[in-house]
Amino acid sequence: TFRTIDNIAPDRRLLVRIDVNAAVEDGTVQDSRRFARHAETIQALLADDHAIALLAHQGRPGRDTFVSLEEHAEILTDHLDHRVEFVPDTDGNDALAAIDGLESGDVLLLENTRMCDGELPEEDPDTKAETDLVQTLAPEFDAYVGDAYSAAHRSHASIVGFPRVMDAYAGRVMETEYEANTALRDREFDGTVTMILGGTKAEDAIPIVEQLDDAVDRFCLGGVVGELFLRADDRDVGYDVGGPELFDHQWDEHQETLERVLEAYRDRLYLPTDLAFEDDRGERGETTLEGVSKERPFLDVGSKTAARYADLVAGSEAVFVKGALGVFEDERFARGTVEVLSAIAEADCFSVVGGGDTARAFALYDLDEADFTRVSIAGGAYVRALTGEPLVGVTVLEYDG
Ligand code: 3PG
Repeated sequence: TFRTIDNIAPDRRLLVRIDVNAAVEDGTVQDSRRFARHAETIQALLADDHAIALLAHQGRPGRDTFVSLEEHAEILTDHLDHRVEFVPDTDGNDALAAIDGLESGDVLLLENTRMCDGELPEEDPDTKAETDLVQTLAPEFDAYVGDAYSAAHRSHASIVGFPRVMDAYAGRVMETEYEANTALRDREFDGTVTMILGGTKAEDAIPIVEQLDDAVDRFCLGGVVGELFLRADDRDVGYDVGGPELFDHQWDEHQETLERVLEAYRDRLYLPTDLAFEDDRGERGETTLEGVSKERPFLDVGSKTAARYADLVAGSEAVFVKGALGVFEDERFARGTVEVLSAIAEADCFSVVGGGDTARAFALYDLDEADFTRVSIAGGAYVRALTGEPLVGVTVLEYDG
């Protein structure tokens, strides 16, 4: 059980952790469903006359997506139709001055929490409560609202530290995502259960295959994850699949596990049989696996693979999607993702779509959320919820009662 924002007395000073971690293209932050969903929590808080400071992260240090939250504040302002003031500081003097001036009905967004020393790495909640970030900000507020469900699998200071030292409540996103994703985990199906497993994070994909092997009959692989498994297949069949930096880095880290998982679950893992790339004229080219090379990044599964996955979906009683099959933001490489999502929408099956960014395909390609049982805005946290692993950011908000 946790207390929700309905349990907070009106007109308080609140520190609210949201998750608007988004795709960044050419240095520009892309809007996602996350902004709209958190706007609902903020609206509800404004209706109760609270003064609000928002905390959020973006990207990871060292990555291109690790940027300031200035644009996030503008996007949130649009969604809320209410000014969200950006403060280019998280827990220094400028942040404290801005917080000091907060009045009922004001909304501030503090700078990217991952720019603070204490936010990362993952440590237990009591250790995180000792960080400067928590020690500096906690005394400035009456309560903390945890709304970052999609980052609740991270034991970072802004997620788990504050609830240790102050009153803590679950926001609307936390409440609704938690309830829906937990209910999903408890369902059982008689027919075939298919999982579309793509996206960019091997660390999300590997535990899914290992821990859901009882619940899922077949895994259709794509995205960077699919290419990593193809690479793991290298030894046996001589494919040579390469890709961007993200790919090589993950390959070095996860090679052994990928090879072990592929070996153990080979009969249930469906690998792409063709891939798409950008040809010399800047158009979508396709090749069978014989034609792949390390020099050329692959940006989508090929048409044959997409059609095959769509067929597998059509014969399933339940379909879970985690991550996209290609770089769907670029229309040339959206085919795999869109074809499979459309097949799910048409099929008469129980369907859940998750993945930090995958839900964005709905707006871009006119897919209707109503054709799916549920669309989650969470990626890694959605995976943990499905595999039954507790989310530390949810656990810290819970109390016995
Ligand atoms: C997400 O986008 O899944 C969350 O914001 C967590 O981001 P992270 O994987 O960089 O910790």
